[in-house]
Amino acid sequence: MSTEKAVKVLLVDDEDAFRQALAKRLERRRMEVFQAADGNSALEALKAFPANVVVMDVKMPGMDGLETMACIKRDFPDTEVILLTGHAAVEDGIAGIRAGAFDYLQKPVETEDLLNKIRQAYDKSRHHHDLAKEAELREALEKQMATAERLASLGTLAAGVAHEINNPLAIISEAAGYLQLLLEKDECKEMPFHDRFEKAIGKIEKSVKRARRTTMQLLGFAGQPDAVYREIELDDLVEEVILLAAGQASAAGVTVVKEKNPNSAALWTDPHRLRQVLINLVSNGIAACGRGGRVSLSFDSSNDWATIQVKDTGHGIPKENLERIFEPFFTTKPPGKGTGLGLFVSLDIIKRLGGDMQVKSKVGKGTIFQVSVPRLSKTCPGVCNDIDWREKARELERRDNHGTGAH
Ligand SMILES: Nc1ncnc2c1ncn2[C@@H]1O[C@H](COP(=O)(O)OP(=O)(O)OP(=O)(O)O)[C@@H](O)[C@H]1O
Ligand SMILES: [Mg+2]
Repeated sequence: MSTEKAVKVLLVDDEDAFRQALAKRLERRRMEVFQAADGNSALEALKAFPANVVVMDVKMPGMDGLETMACIKRDFPDTEVILLTGHAAVEDGIAGIRAGAFDYLQKPVETEDLLNKIRQAYDKSRHHHDLAKEAELREALEKQMATAERLASLGTLAAGVAHEINNPLAIISEAAGYLQLLLEKDECKEMPFHDRFEKAIGKIEKSVKRARRTTMQLLGFAGQPDAVYREIELDDLVEEVILLAAGQASAAGVTVVKEKNPNSAALWTDPHRLRQVLINLVSNGIAACGRGGRVSLSFDSSNDWATIQVKDTGHGIPKENLERIFEPFFTTKPPGKGTGLGLFVSLDIIKRLGGDMQVKSKVGKGTIFQVSVPRLSKTCPGVCNDIDWREKARELERRDNHGTGAH
């Protein structure tokens, strides 16, 4: 029978001859049988051999059958136990059932009776197992749903907070600019503490920039309504990202390059968001590299998917952090340097574009982030929005170089 074939039985009895004879009979019925001569060895054996059913003598020297069963029930709850009792020891059997045994049989044992019992116990243990699996699955699903809900409400909250903060930020920034203008006027040139005022204004502007980065990330995560799709070339996108990252890269002494890709491909996606993701990844790569480090971008495509890899020669991500890097606000950067939102927002964007993101990292060697997005086609809903990205990138770079240089 096919069920018999899969049944794993552990026989526990201190009488060698009896145990071996019984084992042979069960094996002939195509059961997988292991043996143990006492309670302790039985518990050891179960660790290596997760039996579905344990057939065990009650009277054994050392730890008896009832004690051993208590340990089995505690450590291997899916395993069922059938007790073998002496001829006139019905009380032992009843005590066993009370303590959780599947059933008991009196010695001498009829093979057919034992086989039937084992089969029934096996069915029960499988049922247990399935219930446990189902509970595990349900728990995982509930966790996932709770996380999704938490993220959704975090998104709404984040967008609200970002909007609220952006307005006063704009006012602070404008006022700081105005003060800077005043300071530059001739009448103020000789003003006492002129330098200190200038420095303080510089600090205000730098902090406003940083706060703006956080709000922009948050809005990128939650604030944008629908994606704006258009056709782009992978090659153009990657070149544009490299151009945009040039300022940060040269300040850090890191080279950002495109690996040779003979076949560029067109895809239909939201270039703004995809670009935001790639810039986040490249920026992380640069930050992870010391001077002389290298960040390289490559891409590939199949009929349905476009993949882009961002690879760096940086310090890598320790295993314990790998599970956390996509959490909001998780950062290992010094206080005030990182928002810890880059990857969280990026993963969200990629998921919304119907794609996925994977990471592989080796401490001391470097990290590879791989983004996959569906290539889709022009028939997808969206607005065609033709902007000259190279010009836009140059403009942003000019603006960045013109600024205070704070990153
Ligand atoms: N390429 C990488 N190499 C090594 N560590 C990385 C890399 N990318 C991300 N990390 C780790 O993941 C953390 C989270 O990254 P994430 O982009 O979300 O935030 P951040 O970079 O710390 O802050 P921000 O993006 O605002 O600058 C980083 O602080 C870093 O520890
Ligand atoms: Mg980052």
